[in-house]
Amino acid sequence: VSDVLTVGVDTDLAGRVGEVLGEDVAGLPATALDTDGGLLGRLREAGSPLVVVLGAEVPVDRAFRLADEVDTAAPGTSVVIVAHPRPDLWLAAMRAGVRELLSPTAGPEEITAALQRAAAAARARRDALPVAAGATSDHRVVVVASSKGGVGKTTVATNLAVGLARSGAGSTVLVDLVLQFGDVASALAMTPEFTLPDTVRGAASSDPLVLKTFLARHASGLLVVAGSESPAAGDAVSAEQVGALLDTLRQEFRHVVVDTSTGLSDHTLAALERCTDLVLVTSKDVPGVRGLRKELDLLAELGLVPATRHLVLNGVDPGGSLSMADVETAVGAPLDVVLPRHPAVPSSTNTGVPLLLDTGRDPVSRGLEALLARLLPVPEPRRSGLFGRRRVAVR
Ligand SMILES: Nc1ncnc2c1ncn2[C@@H]1O[C@H](COP(=O)(O)OP(=O)(O)OP(=O)(O)O)[C@@H](O)[C@H]1O
Ligand SMILES: [Mg+2]
Repeated sequence: VSDVLTVGVDTDLAGRVGEVLGEDVAGLPATALDTDGGLLGRLREAGSPLVVVLGAEVPVDRAFRLADEVDTAAPGTSVVIVAHPRPDLWLAAMRAGVRELLSPTAGPEEITAALQRAAAAARARRDALPVAAGATSDHRVVVVASSKGGVGKTTVATNLAVGLARSGAGSTVLVDLVLQFGDVASALAMTPEFTLPDTVRGAASSDPLVLKTFLARHASGLLVVAGSESPAAGDAVSAEQVGALLDTLRQEFRHVVVDTSTGLSDHTLAALERCTDLVLVTSKDVPGVRGLRKELDLLAELGLVPATRHLVLNGVDPGGSLSMADVETAVGAPLDVVLPRHPAVPSSTNTGVPLLLDTGRDPVSRGLEALLARLLPVPEPRRSGLFGRRRVAVR
């Protein structure tokens, strides 16, 4: 993904822009606008840059029309036009949705300021529009499940959710699908005003903006749909309602993490139907391992195992009668993450401070970090510069 694309910018100005950004800028000739898909096609190919600079080779009235198109069809990109800034031009430019006018003779400071403002505007629009066209393809629905109770589903789900929320990889919501006596709120030391049954009724069920007002915010930035306090209210929620709730949330949030109740209830199946990443948790004992195997087989029969699946063995004591090789043979697949038994976990459950928010470097946190890393996009190498991250030249 690149931050800046230039189109029809003369080499002189392109060189100055490159100097400001600290490297060569992806640049296309004005003729690229006449090929298939026009400017919008080029923006897609360039990975939706934050800023596109239309140079002097693009006639001003054409640049305005293009800016207008980008404003409607690709609002996450800001358009900068190279032209001598005159008041009358400014007015027309603003009406067309142009972010900045850049003088053809602009020096480094002027270029920096214009690009920074344009990039900031694009970022703000991206934040305000989490579902830009096509942006849902990288949205993830992470479902944490197990065939056996008390094996660490809630521990894993809350830590993953907090870790995703803090990673900066995108907005995250955690849904407690344990509709009776769900303990996500307690594991995060929260006392939410609303719970899941409130989110599937009335205006919240049809309007995403109203739905968002029913979510509780955790200090990590994570949003939470808590389980019901009352078993009766929880029972009244249907699997269809759960499915509709998850459909809305996965449009609105980059990550939806779902904590489930033991086994395959209708509610859990509704989540599994939408799951992109399945996290199956079990314990290192015969019932746990056999249960995991049966659950995998059943999900395969139902066609519900997503491409990305993560097998987690939790609460492992050193030694024990089963060896790791025994476990993998019985499960019929390699284990992805093994979390040891450690007193830091119950103490975190009881205080409501997730392990991943604690500074302690206990072995369970390290395992949870490894699981989290499996869900995060491969990080691009960091760079310091105008935009603080690496850009890849288009050509
Ligand atoms: N690795 C571990 N070491 C020590 N204790 C653990 C570990 N993992 C979980 N626990 C403890 O086990 C208990 C059950 O964990 P958790 O609530 O996460 O399981 P669960 O699968 O969600 O349970 P339920 O089926 O009741 O929803 C908690 O008290 C937790 O602190
Ligand atoms: Mg639980």
